[in-house]
Amino acid sequence: MVRPLVKKYVLGALLSCVLGGAVVTPSIAADDREVIWVTAKEKSMLMAEMRAFLHASQKILESNLSGDMQAVEEAARLVGVSLFKDTPEAIQEKLPITFTMIGPRAYMGFESIVDEAVGRGDMKVIFSHLAQLQKNCVACHALFRFEVKED
Ligand code: HEC
Repeated sequence: MVRPLVKKYVLGALLSCVLGGAVVTPSIAADDREVIWVTAKEKSMLMAEMRAFLHASQKILESNLSGDMQAVEEAARLVGVSLFKDTPEAIQEKLPITFTMIGPRAYMGFESIVDEAVGRGDMKVIFSHLAQLQKNCVACHALFRFEVKED
């Protein structure tokens, strides 16, 4: 008897959140982000990089919480400056200036996590680096989206 009621309550709450959000923030529905035109291959490369960012962020949170500095270092190193250098020039030329200003700040943020993990390994410092660098994820996502157009 209790379960369906709980389910109904949870679903109702979720739905009102979604609808409420849609009403309060109409700009989300309008999608006024600037389009960056890339080829299908470039888009899948950029998206793979993005998923690597998310994956690393999760690993860093989890490993940092359990005090495993080696795992923090490994996760952050994968998305640090080495990943940035891997971005082909053809893609870089298509990126708006604002994008190229925000992007490196995310890579550099991960690099500072690498430094802290191999150095003092202060959990709080690592959390604060991650919190700080994720502002760049949020800022860039609010501004841009990718669309496919073959050259
Ligand atoms: C310089 C800009 C920029 C930065 C910085 C950035 N992203 Fe993105 N990200 C994008 C764009 C543009 C898209 C595509 C959005 C669209 O087309 O709707 C995207 C898409 C994604 C996706 C979706 C991937 C998929 O396969 O659908 C994830 C996940 C993501 N980003 C995670 C992150 C995380 C985590 C960070 C920070 C550590 C980050 N991004 C930093 C620009 C950025």
